[in-house]
Amino acid sequence: MLKQETIQIIKATVPVLEVHGVEITKTFYKNMFQAHPELLNIFNHTNQEQGRQQTALANTVYAAAVHIENLEAILPAVMLIAHKHRSLGILPEHYPIVGENLLKAIKEVLGDAATDDIINAWAEAYGVIADIFIQVEEELYQKTENNGGWRLFKPLKVAKKVVESDLVTSVYFVNEDGSPLPAYEPGQYISIRVKVPGEEYLMNRQYTLSQANAEDGYRISVKRESDHTPNGKVSNYIHDDLQVGDLVDVSAPAGLFVLEETAAPITFVSGGIGVTPLNSMLQSLHDDAVNEVNFIQCARNEKVVAFSDDIQEKVKVLPNASYTALFSEEDKLITKELLAEKVANNADVYVCGPVGFMEAVIKNLQEIGVKDEKIHYEFFGPAMQLAK
Ligand code: HEM
Repeated sequence: MLKQETIQIIKATVPVLEVHGVEITKTFYKNMFQAHPELLNIFNHTNQEQGRQQTALANTVYAAAVHIENLEAILPAVMLIAHKHRSLGILPEHYPIVGENLLKAIKEVLGDAATDDIINAWAEAYGVIADIFIQVEEELYQKTENNGGWRLFKPLKVAKKVVESDLVTSVYFVNEDGSPLPAYEPGQYISIRVKVPGEEYLMNRQYTLSQANAEDGYRISVKRESDHTPNGKVSNYIHDDLQVGDLVDVSAPAGLFVLEETAAPITFVSGGIGVTPLNSMLQSLHDDAVNEVNFIQCARNEKVVAFSDDIQEKVKVLPNASYTALFSEEDKLITKELLAEKVANNADVYVCGPVGFMEAVIKNLQEIGVKDEKIHYEFFGPAMQLAK
């Protein structure tokens, strides 16, 4: 464990590092990719270019360091990140590279203010935090293998591509030899790693599995994005270039945003393509499930709304379910009043959509008295809030 003196230094320097957070992380990534360009095959370049991911890693190291005496407090955040790391094939040997470059960046940005004592304290703290990640991730790798999955990536064959709406296309991946793929929990995601023509490095992206089970393979449903968004290049590659019969490197399903088994009422609230995990969860309910189920789907308009037929079909079958569609182009937005009507007493609420949408919905839910432990959500894109 860390010495009290080391902990004092960490606590005293966190605010200083936070002030220089963006500069430190920019310097960190620049130096690290210069020394280890092979890591560009793992990191999301578009996130880097946009500065979105820039601070997530360093912020988490700072947050972990602050809680170093009580790491239990950040375990839920560690588990989410560890799932993402496992899905991306992050290995123990990567940790010293990140640690070395983070410390170098702190030194470079703080200059003389970064005394040896400060740097040594951070080196020690990083070592403790990295060891926890390494251990948790190894446990996840083993659990994945024990459940019939695989470590790292494996080539799967594109069996089918289906256009779902003007914006969304689904891709079905199967084992090359036709053997069944391991089961997953609805709400989980896979990473795919592709070589996009014209790009120097491999690109990794996470996509939620958009069906309730793996019976006809792993299905992802990909929204067409502008080339300049983090998912743009890979999304356009999937829409335009990926062919049936192609092999794609895929990692085994991961993620903790899953439906908890319960007899309590359930409300799903989706914004845009955030409907994907929620539809998987809905479809996984038994046709005779007694829960009261309410599904609120928000989208821009009728043309781009994904899975609404599937959702409505399932809602018809369930004994006690309702479906509400809200299209923003018709000025129909989600309100506190609607949530109050559709969130029954003691309901579990699952929310997924763009960050602004989620923040608004979660705030409304809190205001109508839904307890935090009953609100389950996942941000699409880097989980920047985690470190806070
Ligand atoms: C994602 C923290 C070490 C590679 C993340 C995220 C956080 C984080 C907070 C965002 C999670 C999300 O998007 O849901 C950390 C911490 C580390 C660490 C605290 C050290 C203690 C590493 C290492 C590597 C790595 C050693 C590999 C060299 C990645 C990648 C992503 C990621 C590739 C996905 C986002 C992107 O592509 O930019 N990490 N990480 N991380 N991490 Fe780490």
